[in-house]
Amino acid sequence: MSNIIPVLTIDGPSGSGKGSISKRIAEKLGWRYLDSGALYRALGVAAIRSKVDLKNEDALADLVRDIELEFKRTELGNWSVLLNGQEVQNELQTEQVGDVASKIAVFKRVRDGLLAKQQSFLKPPGLVADGRDMGSVVFPTATHKVYLTANAAERGKRRYKQLIEKGISANLTDVIQDIERRDERDKNRRASPLVVPTDAVYIDSSLCTIEEVVQQVLNLLKNK
Ligand code: DC
Repeated sequence: MSNIIPVLTIDGPSGSGKGSISKRIAEKLGWRYLDSGALYRALGVAAIRSKVDLKNEDALADLVRDIELEFKRTELGNWSVLLNGQEVQNELQTEQVGDVASKIAVFKRVRDGLLAKQQSFLKPPGLVADGRDMGSVVFPTATHKVYLTANAAERGKRRYKQLIEKGISANLTDVIQDIERRDERDKNRRASPLVVPTDAVYIDSSLCTIEEVVQQVLNLLKNK
């Protein structure tokens, strides 16, 4: 019998639905879930608080080394992120934190500093890992890889809806522009850019519901 722990990586740009889809699949399979973007965002919160120069790779690498990041299960069964023991979940979803996360994620030493933490999530019975470089860098030997995307206008609308639902004020045109700017940076950085892993299944979710994509991915797992 094989003792390989199954890993499903779901990479893609922001607003592609990766977060909701990965969480649902992990729940259905009873696997663990890694939201790698939350780690970059929590580091973004730490960077804002410590007023570190966002262009200084050495200072940011020191920050990664010095902070403690943990995920805690909430009573409702969700995950919340602790930065140095303090809950920062509510700060993670703002546009400012997303933008800072994307800026500091360009640095190789920052990414290297988060690598072991991400890989430590791999435990039986399996893992669903959501991010930008899950299938290409963090879990290159994953048993199943998906690249999930949707057109920028659709992703902007979804992101706008999420923000409004959370009571965060937003402007749709600005949200779409932010998404395009962030995509550009995430795809064109030198360290672990957002790419379609060679062995990934490409899914465009522009015209699909979350449930339809969940089903499509579960079918892939069944048929492999
Ligand atoms: O998935 P997200 O929107 O929460 O991610 C926020 C930023 O973090 C994203 O713009 C780039 C960075 N990130 C990354 O570089 N690699 C990952 N695996 C996840 C996120």
